[in-house]
Amino acid sequence: MSTVSQESVLQALRGIQDPDLGKDIVTLGFVKDMTIQGGDVAFRIELTTPACPVKEQFRSEAEALVSRVPGVSSVKVKMDAQVAASNPLLQTNAIPGVKNVIAVSSGKGGVGKSTVSVNLAVALAQSGASVGILDADVYGPNIPMMLGLRGKPEGRDGKIVPFRTPDGLVAMSMGFMVDEDKPLILRGPMIHSAIRQFLFEVAWGQLDYLIVDLPPGTGDAQLSLSQSCHLMGAILVTTPQDVSVHDVRKAVNMFKTVNVPVLGVVENMAGLYLSGKVIGTADRIELKVADTPVSIEVASDGSFESVIDIFGSGGAQKITELFDVPMLGSIPLDPAVRVGGDAGRPVTMTDPESGIAKSFRELAGEMARRVSTLNLS
Ligand SMILES: Nc1ncnc2c1ncn2[C@@H]1O[C@H](COP(=O)(O)OP(=O)(O)O)[C@@H](O)[C@H]1O
Ligand SMILES: [Mg+2]
Repeated sequence: MSTVSQESVLQALRGIQDPDLGKDIVTLGFVKDMTIQGGDVAFRIELTTPACPVKEQFRSEAEALVSRVPGVSSVKVKMDAQVAASNPLLQTNAIPGVKNVIAVSSGKGGVGKSTVSVNLAVALAQSGASVGILDADVYGPNIPMMLGLRGKPEGRDGKIVPFRTPDGLVAMSMGFMVDEDKPLILRGPMIHSAIRQFLFEVAWGQLDYLIVDLPPGTGDAQLSLSQSCHLMGAILVTTPQDVSVHDVRKAVNMFKTVNVPVLGVVENMAGLYLSGKVIGTADRIELKVADTPVSIEVASDGSFESVIDIFGSGGAQKITELFDVPMLGSIPLDPAVRVGGDAGRPVTMTDPESGIAKSFRELAGEMARRVSTLNLS
């Protein structure tokens, strides 16, 4: 029996293109540790993020392509990832061990910035990435509430030890340092030193992504963050009701001024997610939301699923066109999101199979692929 050659397997794998990097996975050096024993082929595909949206597609394509190579009797593919760091040469203000610092920002409060930060962080961690979350909302720190974290952080070896959630997220918040009921009144220089302290005096460990929940607007915290550390990029959260072009323009321009790429826009509370199953038979469901008629298609197994626009749609799309920034995701309105946030148990954690958790996973995938593409280009 002739052995399969490594070259013939690699040749087959050249048929898989990375859609973002525009090259095949062999040329990109993603195929590693190949072993061939007779007709048994095993290798690892190392992606640039574990949250890669095409991970499963790559795996099945690799299995299919290699199993068609003459002489191959079995294929074992291990999917793996090594997250690229943003600007590794820039040593001066990098946080040791932290590969990508990503800010979550918004023009206004109450649009779901903290909700998006928390669920995005959980979704990234669930994909296998090491993730930290820093609550830098000095005016209304609510990450401790949303993650159900209580108490004061401890110190060790001159550093602050961050909290660790059941999902393995590491978290730090201004809220841990102050009394919950006392309003925080901080002036610019105090905000600056607090943010520096949280970036550099917290034992973050090795992180692929550090998500930073900022206060709304374009104030001291935004500037301090971008001046204090190397920010990989920023995400802007908006809602359909206050897609205020003015606010977004201000945010986009601010990040431009400080040379931070805007990774994209997230539209939150974008419509109402409905799903269910028809008892009996029906082809479609006709209903009214307030006075607006809505028609939903029923699948052959009786299930239905739909997102109903309540505040109108297309606002975030308009923003992406106007400012030439990508749309990273759309998160529907869902009471489970608020309930989870209030209870300290994010919906991505408690109900990972739900439609809403899927939206957050898709957002995480889009963000991660954008980060990889920018880091490798
Ligand atoms: N997609 C959503 N569906 C339902 N409720 C949401 C959603 N996003 C946010 N909320 C709720 O809206 C409120 C404001 O969200 P929050 O994340 O605190 O906003 P911000 O940090 O921008 O001030 C919270 O009560 C939160 O639970
Ligand atoms: Mg908030």
